Amino acid sequence: MDLTLDIATKPLSGTLSLAGDKSLAHRAALFAALAEGTSSVSNYPDSGVTRAMRRALATLGVPSTLEDGILRIEGRGYKPFSPSGTADCGNSGTTIRLLAGAIAGTRSSAILDGSAGLRKRPMDRIAEPLAQMGAKVTTAAGCAPLAFAPAQTLAPLSYALPVASAQVKSCLILAALGASGISHISEPGPSRDHTELMLRSMGAHIVSRRLEVEVHPLSRPLAPLSGTLPGDISSAAFLFAAAAIVPGSCVTVANLGVNPTRTGILDVLSAMGCTVICANRRKVFGEDVADVTVSSPATLRAVEISGDLVVRSIDEFPAIAAAAAFATGVTTVRDAKELRYKESDRISAICRNLAALGAEVAELDDGFTIAGLTISGGTAKAGGDHRLAMSMALTGLRVHTTVQDAEILAESFPGFAQTIDSLR
Ligand code: S3P
Repeated sequence: MDLTLDIATKPLSGTLSLAGDKSLAHRAALFAALAEGTSSVSNYPDSGVTRAMRRALATLGVPSTLEDGILRIEGRGYKPFSPSGTADCGNSGTTIRLLAGAIAGTRSSAILDGSAGLRKRPMDRIAEPLAQMGAKVTTAAGCAPLAFAPAQTLAPLSYALPVASAQVKSCLILAALGASGISHISEPGPSRDHTELMLRSMGAHIVSRRLEVEVHPLSRPLAPLSGTLPGDISSAAFLFAAAAIVPGSCVTVANLGVNPTRTGILDVLSAMGCTVICANRRKVFGEDVADVTVSSPATLRAVEISGDLVVRSIDEFPAIAAAAAFATGVTTVRDAKELRYKESDRISAICRNLAALGAEVAELDDGFTIAGLTISGGTAKAGGDHRLAMSMALTGLRVHTTVQDAEILAESFPGFAQTIDSLR
């Protein structure tokens, strides 16, 4: 499907709520499966990647229902899964990596596989530390499919992640719950800490210190979950970027997850000159939630992004790139090599697509530069990456742009174009 957004002829404005955060949704479904009792989670998003987690869990013997946005799961406890076949994780890296940890920890037999795109993404980053614990896991040359056989026992882990990754950290935390002693996992940057917060709220003994987690083996069953997921800041990022690039705009997203490990996008837009206001702050599931308003500046400025801010914005570079294309000056992103291992090689996909739209860009080994206001429009390709599809579509608010194969955006934000239109 081709997607062409109409050029904005007036400012975008409005207040809306979004479906629940995908990172929280993946964890809620999996952790509910590992709990004892019935979990019920509202505002549960129904998108390609969350369906992948639910489908994989059903194959592993834990079905769920999703009606009127309410997910219900009967937990089986932290014990071996009973798969009826190969669990298909679709396009979802979070699904395969988190499930891998739970399968290793519960000492289950299972095979995890996924789409052609998922099969290209690195799995040695979880398989190696799991093997250090004694887990029996084989990969296809470091990639999916992953095959697990039950280990006799799992040793506690002491491991320093080479790159900050919440998927890897969460995989290892889930496995460490089933180890024979206390594990320590550290990372070089502040990746999202949803796993630690949610498991702790369910009764797990996990101690977080700056950039290190201490995980104690489970000594009692995980309690079931009950609550409402906050909206997804990684979806809101596209609406805020839209507000940034259409002069005079002001967009509010109510009930938005604003965990500090996820709010890099707000800091970036603020550095670009936008006004960002977080009101009505509160806690849900141990997570920070607020109503967030972003207004466009008189002049949108280029920005330099590196270090921890990259980790705190890791999924938001497609949205940031769209904003950068309409900013005054050259935006520079460094320390972001991890973007090469997402749903696409996002460094090269962002540069290739913006160049196809006439923008002056330079691809760096660990990032890119974008010269703002050089973009003229044309045809972009989603290339199997939901966030690339939305990023390139956003440029259409200012220059005529068509995105090919844009249907992939339903992996994370079904109704994206209609939501943008509701702000016109
Ligand atoms: C996620 C972690 C991030 C992110 C992904 C979701 C998660 O990946 O890119 O979309 O839910 O844990 P890494 O932790 O591998 O960087």
